Amino acid sequence: MNTSYQTLLLEIDDAGICVLTINRPDKLNALNDQVFKDLDKAVSSIEEDDEVKGLIITGSGDKAFVAGADIKEFSEFKKDQATKLSQRGHRVFQKIEDLGKPVIAAVNGYALGGGCELALACHLRIASATAIMGLPEVSLGLIPGYGATQRLPKLVGEAKALELVMTGRFAKADEAAQIGLVNKVAEEDVLQESKAMLKSILKQAPIAIKNAILAIRESGSSSGYETEANLFGDLFNTADFKEGTTAFLEKRKPDFSGK
Ligand code: CAA
Repeated sequence: MNTSYQTLLLEIDDAGICVLTINRPDKLNALNDQVFKDLDKAVSSIEEDDEVKGLIITGSGDKAFVAGADIKEFSEFKKDQATKLSQRGHRVFQKIEDLGKPVIAAVNGYALGGGCELALACHLRIASATAIMGLPEVSLGLIPGYGATQRLPKLVGEAKALELVMTGRFAKADEAAQIGLVNKVAEEDVLQESKAMLKSILKQAPIAIKNAILAIRESGSSSGYETEANLFGDLFNTADFKEGTTAFLEKRKPDFSGK
């Protein structure tokens, strides 16, 4: 797998956990054109690499996860360029959400605007005690453009999403956990606790995890139950289903092959 990028650092450990770090610390890891190009390529190569079992996304330095889209870069944009910018953001973040492997955002500081939206595209979010999250786009005369208007209400409800987006106010880690914007606040090291959670997921049957992600993504849609039934049924053809049920009946731990 290619691990060399201008704006990202990629590391893979023995457990198959890939840590992808957005690496523009002097700009609080703001998402510019190059970050999107790199993310697009990196997520494809993570998808294709069977050695990678799960992904953690975090930010470089101790101050920020990602402080948003790069404001300087789009400050002179006109309508068409801005619409395209938003659409590219949607495509790349959807690719993260669609990755058939669990993705955790280790939110290690400011996660604002597009940075908060990047965290929302991950399957789970763990915040450091110092994390600060928010969608301050209205203070720039904008609305969130990388998916928050769609993903945020699913997590925190429409009223809280409207409150956060219309006030543009920041939420500290504890509030973020309380409203469901993050799954939990790390007691100590956010990266280690993200790895620990990912390891507990990776002990389970991989295709079941993938199907769980696909099914839960459709919650609230008219085809959600049909999707669940199909994905549930598909799992009965897997070796991991045989192994999981046999291990239960034999009172031993399962050894999943991911097949
Ligand atoms: N875009 C471009 N540069 C950014 C940036 C961003 N979103 N956020 C921070 N930076 C840069 C700063 O310009 C500064 O660069 P210089 O040293 O070259 O001046 C550097 O990062 C450090 O930032 P600060 O000096 O501002 O650090 P601070 O500690 O005083 O403040 C902060 C931290 C509160 C996060 C502040 O940087 C801030 O408010 N950043 C912008 C947050 C924001 O509005 N995000 C939303 C962006 S719009 C968006 O994301 C649209 C969308 O939905 C697609």
